[in-house]
Amino acid sequence: MLKKIGVLTSGGDAPGMNNAIAGVVKSAHAKGIEVFGIKDGYKGLINGWFTKLDSDFTLDIISKGGTVLGSARLPEFKEESVRQKAVDQLRKHGIEALVVIGGDGSYMGAQRLTEMGINCVGLPGTIDNDIVSSDYTIGFDTALNTVIESVDKIRDTMTSHNRAAVVEVMGNRCGDLVTYAAIGTQAEVFSPSESKLTEEEICIQVKKLADINHRSVIILISEKQFDAKALAKKIQEVSGYDTRATILGHTQRGGRPTGMDRYLAFTAAMFAVEKLIAGEGGLYIGIENNQLVARDIESTLNMPKPDRTQIINKIRILNSKQIK
Ligand code: F6P
Repeated sequence: MLKKIGVLTSGGDAPGMNNAIAGVVKSAHAKGIEVFGIKDGYKGLINGWFTKLDSDFTLDIISKGGTVLGSARLPEFKEESVRQKAVDQLRKHGIEALVVIGGDGSYMGAQRLTEMGINCVGLPGTIDNDIVSSDYTIGFDTALNTVIESVDKIRDTMTSHNRAAVVEVMGNRCGDLVTYAAIGTQAEVFSPSESKLTEEEICIQVKKLADINHRSVIILISEKQFDAKALAKKIQEVSGYDTRATILGHTQRGGRPTGMDRYLAFTAAMFAVEKLIAGEGGLYIGIENNQLVARDIESTLNMPKPDRTQIINKIRILNSKQIK
């Protein structure tokens, strides 16, 4: 019988991580298992920064963005000697198993710890929606709503002034935030990571809109593709639209989690605790077709990403129809 488990958040924070922590605490306590919160991800794990969590604490955190446990990226965790320090700390405190909430960068650590005798289960916590074999990740819905709200506001002022706006969106190497937000805001031009447009293609499309006196233009781009300001300048030169650039940046990572993120986080956490109680590890929890699934971490890291080309192309065709 498990007596003590740990929970940590790792990588970029995501709205809903606190709901996942709450789900771990409540479902473990219901089975008489103590829960220790580990501060600042794997960094806190190797330093023994552990605090016992009580049930009352869950009510204080469920409406808060970010992660109350703190998060960090620790590339050194790839080294076995560093991981051994973590195992030693866990053994010293009698913590037998772990829930790791984070992006795919965190999963390899969880897998290796499992191989070293500490069962770990991962939960998909990232705004990027880049965890393959989960339809959605914890934080994606909140970030998407933040992007949509921001673009709606930018649209108001662009329309008032007959302007174009380049809006840069996060997502690391995954363009889902761009694609979903483009559909939600009817952005005229969008360039997600998986289906990148060239600067020339973007300028040509915006010019066509200028030629038909389209009142305002939103160009959504994934981060790490262009220099947003330089792109805006180029668009202005080619199209004649007075063009501005906005980098949404870390506004996308903060804020109160949406209902969907809270639901996914809490139920996935309950499932993770069930798996640990059953003596399983080396797993990560995802959601597929509205069902929670547990998969081997190793196999999931090698799965192909879902192909969004079809929907991206269909939306681009719709957009081109307004250009006569
Ligand atoms: O993985 C989440 C994410 O917000 C990415 O979308 C982005 O590329 C990265 O983290 C930014 O990281 P940092 O907060 O370290 O600048």
